[in-house]
Amino acid sequence: MEKHLVIGASGQLGIELTLGMQARYGIDAVVVSDIRQSTDLDVNRSEFILLDASDAHAVRKVLAEGKFTHVYHLVAMLSARGEQNPLDAWDLNMKSLINVLECAKDGLFEKMFWPSSIAVFGPNAPKTQTPQNTFCDPTTVYGVSKVAGELWAKYYFEHYGVDVRSIRYPGLIGHRSQPGGGTTDYAVEAFYCALEDKPFECYLEHYETLPMMHMEDAVRATLELMETSKENITVRTSYNLAGCSFSPSELNSEIVKIIPEFSTSYKPDLRQQIAASWPDSINDEAARSDWGWSAKYNTTGLIKAMLQALKV
Ligand code: SER
Repeated sequence: MEKHLVIGASGQLGIELTLGMQARYGIDAVVVSDIRQSTDLDVNRSEFILLDASDAHAVRKVLAEGKFTHVYHLVAMLSARGEQNPLDAWDLNMKSLINVLECAKDGLFEKMFWPSSIAVFGPNAPKTQTPQNTFCDPTTVYGVSKVAGELWAKYYFEHYGVDVRSIRYPGLIGHRSQPGGGTTDYAVEAFYCALEDKPFECYLEHYETLPMMHMEDAVRATLELMETSKENITVRTSYNLAGCSFSPSELNSEIVKIIPEFSTSYKPDLRQQIAASWPDSINDEAARSDWGWSAKYNTTGLIKAMLQALKV
């Protein structure tokens, strides 16, 4: 029987991925772990294990005892917070990844998922339809840790046969969980302001287009990638994945169509520089042809879905 462990289950992606897996595989087939338990009551239907992923002994103990088949290692400090604490971000992002990869190498579980990001790209990658294979010269420590992590994933696959799979997520937008410490987080904040009838102050320039994705698409992509057979996977660093793309002013215009009183003002800060170094849109041909990926949500659909879900 399959048994899935989510490490970092109380974070933005962890919560949504756990809910998606509970629905797909059953509550008892999913175990969640983090340094603190989620406040989401549905997530907490699954068994919780208190775990600091940067503690190699603790990770090994949990994985040796748990008899898991699948491990989703989601722990990371994101781009904006990482720039305030570069060495802590490097330490957490790399140490926790290696801890889990080492256990995979020793056969403690069968399959691993680890998320990468559009943050692997930097100023020298093409901005539009950024290809799978191009310059990866990130300007943030988060991006550097993701490039290094991708190469470690490939190394463990090639040298030790570890079946580790990965996706370069765009900015993730969902209503069940709030992001923290990222650059793409502004979009989620905008929705909460819209629904609370508050004006929104955006820390990016009005024109700064970024690749984004509805959480439902992101969860489905993750599970589809994990379910595809090993032979289909030709990318062992991390797959590009496209959802939709929009700028803060496009987001504003779309929200105004539904909530006419909504307004956005702009006060760019350091996060604007990070966003400016990332792509506007992503080419995800490899994911499409290798494992049949196709996004469901375009910009309008994503915005409608978010506003509807938050209103309930
Ligand atoms: N959403 C992340 C961030 O903004 C990128 O992967 O840092």
